[in-house]
Amino acid sequence: MRDTDDIRFGMVGHGGISGQFLGAMDVVEDAHVAAVAGRNADRAHAFAESRGIASSYGSVGEMLSAERLDAVYICTPHPYHEEAAIACVDAGVAVLVEKPIAPNLAGATRIVEAARDAGVFAMEAMWTRFLPIYEVVRRWIDEGLIGDVRLVTAAFGFSVPVMPEHRLFNPELAGGSLLDVGVYPLTIAHWLYGSHPVEYGALARVGETNVDEIVSIAASYPGGGLAQLGCATVANLESSAMIAGTAGSIEIPVFWAADRAILRAGGEEEIETMPHRANGFEYEIEEVVDCVRRGRTESDRMPLSLSLEMAGLCDEIRSRLGVVYPFEEGSD
Ligand SMILES: NC(=O)c1ccc[n+]([C@@H]2O[C@H](COP(=O)([O-])OP(=O)(O)OC[C@H]3O[C@@H](n4cnc5c(N)ncnc54)[C@H](OP(=O)(O)O)[C@@H]3O)[C@@H](O)[C@H]2O)c1
Repeated sequence: MRDTDDIRFGMVGHGGISGQFLGAMDVVEDAHVAAVAGRNADRAHAFAESRGIASSYGSVGEMLSAERLDAVYICTPHPYHEEAAIACVDAGVAVLVEKPIAPNLAGATRIVEAARDAGVFAMEAMWTRFLPIYEVVRRWIDEGLIGDVRLVTAAFGFSVPVMPEHRLFNPELAGGSLLDVGVYPLTIAHWLYGSHPVEYGALARVGETNVDEIVSIAASYPGGGLAQLGCATVANLESSAMIAGTAGSIEIPVFWAADRAILRAGGEEEIETMPHRANGFEYEIEEVVDCVRRGRTESDRMPLSLSLEMAGLCDEIRSRLGVVYPFEEGSD
């Protein structure tokens, strides 16, 4: 690839989140979506036509055989990430895999091993970690403006009717609030403390489809920092994060998509806003473009080790809650 060539992306999946990816791609220089694959050629074709994408395919394999792609964005329901991701890396094509990278640690490990064996770039699409406002928040903390950090509270929850077949509730599709949105508060606590919890308690309401519909986690981190984290598909949770320290606090409204943070310290309030150029997905896409251009196999900012740790933590939380997916039964 020459430096001046556009990075050619493919997409696998064209559902709810795909529009956000395409919207962000519009503001990313030197990259475009050249092809989309689904599991049904007609539906993929209709999507491609409606979004001005040049080519469409009824399977990942057909897309990889026919196209010269540099990277593929995988946005199918969680259990289908693995097959597509491994097909891409085996074909030498970089992958950006929607969160959670896989429904469990076993699947995440297979993706990571395949990418490492092939020497091909792979990254989980945890876009929150790339939002520019977090650089401001980090600076405020590093400058000691809120003193020693003692507690972070963060929750991500919305309320939709229980639809047993929908991927949010269907255990065959690795439903549940933890994997869909719980990974965001867990990620923000990890970003803050640089570690997963050393100790935690988790409580949940497990609904009629045997997946977690609302989860509450209290956790402690190395050094003694605490977290109160929550996620839900059946309750509208306040989605601000609050980082509380000995000398002040930082509020991050809509923390998972944040473009604003509020510092409160010494009786003063400072508001910093870093508007997204599109919708916030552009920063993770730019990370992929940069890594692919530089021949990197991993992102320093969202390394595969972090995806593995997160998958392991979510496995452990689900096991405490008694949430086991049908495709996991009988496995160790
Ligand atoms: N980063 C974020 O903010 C964010 C937000 C929402 C979702 N996500 C993640 O994105 C993923 C997809 O979520 P979504 O809400 O977009 O789901 P969705 O609306 O159900 O769309 C899923 C898409 O995948 C296709 N598909 C399903 N099974 C497939 C298979 N076996 N092979 C190929 N394509 C298949 C579907 O095509 P059909 O037309 O054939 O059904 C559909 O186009 C999830 O992992 C979710 O966690 C991320």
